Amino acid sequence: MLGGGIVSGSAILVGGDPGIGKSTLLLETMGKLAKAGEKVLYITGEESPKQIKMRAERLDASSENLLVYAEINLERILESIRKIKPKAIVIDSIQTVYAQNLESAPGSVSQIRETAYQLILTAKSMEVPLFLVGHVTKDGSIAGPKVLEHMVDTVLYFEGDKGHPFRLLRAVKNRYGSVMEIGVFEMKDMGLEEVSNPSALFLAERPENASGSVVVSSLEGTRPILVEIQSLVCPTVFGMPRRTVVGIEAARVSVLVAVLEKKIGMNLSSQDIFLKVAGGLKLEEPAVDLGVIASIASNYQDKPVNPKTVVFGEVGLAGEVRGINQAELRVKEAASLGFERCVLPKDNAKKIRSPRSAGSGVRGRITQNLEIIGVSSVKEAMDVLF
Ligand code: TYD
Ligand code: MG
Repeated sequence: MLGGGIVSGSAILVGGDPGIGKSTLLLETMGKLAKAGEKVLYITGEESPKQIKMRAERLDASSENLLVYAEINLERILESIRKIKPKAIVIDSIQTVYAQNLESAPGSVSQIRETAYQLILTAKSMEVPLFLVGHVTKDGSIAGPKVLEHMVDTVLYFEGDKGHPFRLLRAVKNRYGSVMEIGVFEMKDMGLEEVSNPSALFLAERPENASGSVVVSSLEGTRPILVEIQSLVCPTVFGMPRRTVVGIEAARVSVLVAVLEKKIGMNLSSQDIFLKVAGGLKLEEPAVDLGVIASIASNYQDKPVNPKTVVFGEVGLAGEVRGINQAELRVKEAASLGFERCVLPKDNAKKIRSPRSAGSGVRGRITQNLEIIGVSSVKEAMDVLF
């Protein structure tokens, strides 16, 4: 995520919702550095050293090289950094630190700017990497990490749904590496564990042969992740039909419902539609369009989509299926998870097809076990799927 290692003197902001696991992530990381013999300083304004110690023990991160200080006064923090000369510093969180010479409260924009500036300056002059934890707040009562983004070298956001165990670490800005990388973790009793096969995690509880359940491929950073979309379509009992969507932008789903009505002739205006992305992931890519359409159509007709099928492609207003990026990567991910069929844009299918079978229509095989089916319209996709 950091582009191959921690650059000395770099300032790294780790942002995220309260309770998502920022402290856990950094404590584990620092624990590993400490065990490797580096003296690291963990400054906390959120928890007592005792709490941190207990947590470090549970995470198997405690070490005599991991120094934990509970301190919120900037002057004293800077003093301890200069005295201890650690190999890495964590400030958890920047919103709790305050500079005495400013009158505003800790967490205010001016406090965050000033304290972060002083900390970054000190860390740079000592060539020590500095991790700043920043809470994201929705109500804006305390200033969020946005204020700091331009001051630091790297901005990482830790995301996830608190009701689900998986967490994504995304780089939003990185002066020393790619912003395309993501880290996928699972929050367990013993801390965070890296997930080497995220698709398997998201598909673990999928009901097979249930109508409305469709597997799509969404590119997160450079990784294609397979996820399940589910929908329920039921007759509207009273008043306006409801459209309730979780995990995808609702407006996008409305557009796709309109395409189904107009191009396929499904009468959805008398139906309530509930759609959600299983596992709590948020999908933002247009490539999931065709999967949304397939899911709604499947539940409306009460016909399951073959569970060994992955569906992806952008859908236009004319009902056309448009090519998307990194189709080959997605197909490979599907193959590696044992899927047997990919329904994807014809444009992409043509390019992926091995030279031997090229030009022989829309169907072909990329591997022994995976059939790829190119479609150019929603109509064609419906014919293939149902
Ligand atoms: P935390 O790192 O304190 O979040 P943040 O610093 O972003 O506010 O993580 C809080 C949640 O993580 C808490 O609800 C409990 C959970 N958790 C585990 O499930 N397993 C663990 O080993 C740890 C340390 C925390
Ligand atoms: Mg915390």
